[in-house]
Amino acid sequence: MMLLEREPVLASLRQYAHEASQGEGRLVLIAGEAGAGKSVLVERFQRDLPDAIWSWGACDGLSTPQPLAPLFDLARDLGGTLEDLCRGQPERDELFAALLTQVTGDDRLNVIVIEDIHWADEATLDLMRFLTRRIRAASVLVIATYRGDWLAPSSPLRLALGELAARRWARRLELPPLSVEAVRTMADGTGLDAGQLYRLTGGNPFYVTEMLEAGTHGVPLSARDATLSRTGRLSGTARQVLETAALMGVRIDAGLLADRQSELDELSASGLLVDEGIGLRFRHEIARLAIAQEIPAHRQALIHARILNALRAGGSRDDARMAFHAEGAGDEE
Ligand SMILES: Nc1ncnc2c1ncn2[C@@H]1O[C@H](COP(=O)(O)OP(=O)(O)OP(=O)(O)O)[C@@H](O)[C@H]1O
Ligand SMILES: [Mg+2]
Repeated sequence: MMLLEREPVLASLRQYAHEASQGEGRLVLIAGEAGAGKSVLVERFQRDLPDAIWSWGACDGLSTPQPLAPLFDLARDLGGTLEDLCRGQPERDELFAALLTQVTGDDRLNVIVIEDIHWADEATLDLMRFLTRRIRAASVLVIATYRGDWLAPSSPLRLALGELAARRWARRLELPPLSVEAVRTMADGTGLDAGQLYRLTGGNPFYVTEMLEAGTHGVPLSARDATLSRTGRLSGTARQVLETAALMGVRIDAGLLADRQSELDELSASGLLVDEGIGLRFRHEIARLAIAQEIPAHRQALIHARILNALRAGGSRDDARMAFHAEGAGDEE
């Protein structure tokens, strides 16, 4: 697969790997929204460094994640004492020390990948702190990926990140969405309209890929599932506000939701809504469509009626919008 517009990030990674291989360990924190291409980037990078010793671990989004799950993954790749320890009932300190001994006990570069640390449990964050403090003068490159837009202000990772990123040997990389040109390249020959694809997906590579595979401008199942897995974590009232927002169209009239500030904060923290440029809006139009489509027809009519009433009560002069909601409410008159 061709990775578009990632050459600069790959060049930085190569540079950090070079420095690490000279005995100046590096921690690289790679942020990007869900589907930005963090995993494929690191997988692609592995091909550039075939001689390094790679070990991979991942955090998962279970409601009660297994503590230190990524360390157990690393142990499977690294084998040796660490893997033996993992079979018993090891103390945490023993595990950390064994990992460190194994990745520093080799002249070759060791690359440790820990994916999706936005889900990391406290013990895994401690592992990150432990490693980060001790790799400075070792041939070790630690690469951690996370969804930057998933971090609530109070999330443990946000606190840990400040501390990790403050190290002189830490580096941060951000994966931006793809440009409209890249989306055009991907859509080439598919018969789908690149401009519309870009508008729907905001250049998110996952959404673009899924829509191209589905071959339509509608919401593919996988994109729908990705969106709904996200809304499933919200509080009930935030979900209600989200549904109302989804039926408002591309621009959300925040004035109509002025009394729902804490829900709007929750939705912004979840990364589903952003407040920039044209004001409050869905980060991805395709997510808005997916949410709107899930609302049963009778409830859609109710929500439209409520929005219409609120617009009327506020003395709106926006006839087109009122007509849109009147139609949705089944209010022909
Ligand atoms: N630079 C790119 N050019 C073309 N396609 C890309 C690019 N980056 C990612 N993709 C496509 O987008 C999909 C999603 O990428 P990936 O799984 O790496 O995202 P992610 O950031 O790891 O998401 P998550 O946070 O859900 O783990 C990939 O399957 C790939 O097909
Ligand atoms: Mg990933």
